Amino acid sequence: MIKVAPSILSADFANLERDIKKVAAADYLHVDVMDGAFVPNITIGIPVVKSIRKCTDMFLDVHLMIEKPARYIEGFAKAGADLLSVHLESDHPTGIAKALDIMGQCGVKKAVALRPITSPEAILPYIEQLDLVLVMTVEPGFGGQKFIPGQLDTIRRVREIIQQYNPACELEIDGGVALDTAPAAVAAGANVLVAGSYVYNAPDIPAAIAALRGAR
Ligand code: DX5
Ligand code: ZN
Repeated sequence: MIKVAPSILSADFANLERDIKKVAAADYLHVDVMDGAFVPNITIGIPVVKSIRKCTDMFLDVHLMIEKPARYIEGFAKAGADLLSVHLESDHPTGIAKALDIMGQCGVKKAVALRPITSPEAILPYIEQLDLVLVMTVEPGFGGQKFIPGQLDTIRRVREIIQQYNPACELEIDGGVALDTAPAAVAAGANVLVAGSYVYNAPDIPAAIAALRGAR
């Protein structure tokens, strides 16, 4: 089954509760955390995740685009995240392993994220303990960018690794996902589709979510 995770990066942050309710029909709520260092943009942090947790029961998929994320895992877990993803490029391997350990201790689901430049094999040291792998299909930092078709090869290879070592692990893609790009990504092995601008710019948001779910 294909899951849809609307990204609130495309929501109106002054009307966040209203815009979260608009995507209530989706599977996950994707929350983009950016620190102005790992990526050039700055978005939201722990206090906002805490407030989001109070206004929705949706599964909170929190994408950490921050340097040395181990420092903040407990804070985001306590704020109410259900899943945290850390970028493999955001720290040394020991820092990534530590972040995943803390996720386990805090009882949140574990994910790693890959920038387009990162090799699929980089997930191998962690794959057995992961709940999800996030493959970026744009350079992280901003919504509304164009899907990078070359990432279809990465999606295929990550799917192979998942099937070999941990078939229950989900494969999420993020960036430039819309009705024209989703079918090839699903065929390549993605099963969770993050979509910001496609969902929030749609005239009928529940219909857009349903259409993405049916992407083949
Ligand atoms: C980009 C973020 C994405 C972003 C996707 O760095 O991680 O989640 O919101 O936006 P669209 O769907 O507009 O490409
Ligand atoms: Zn994201």
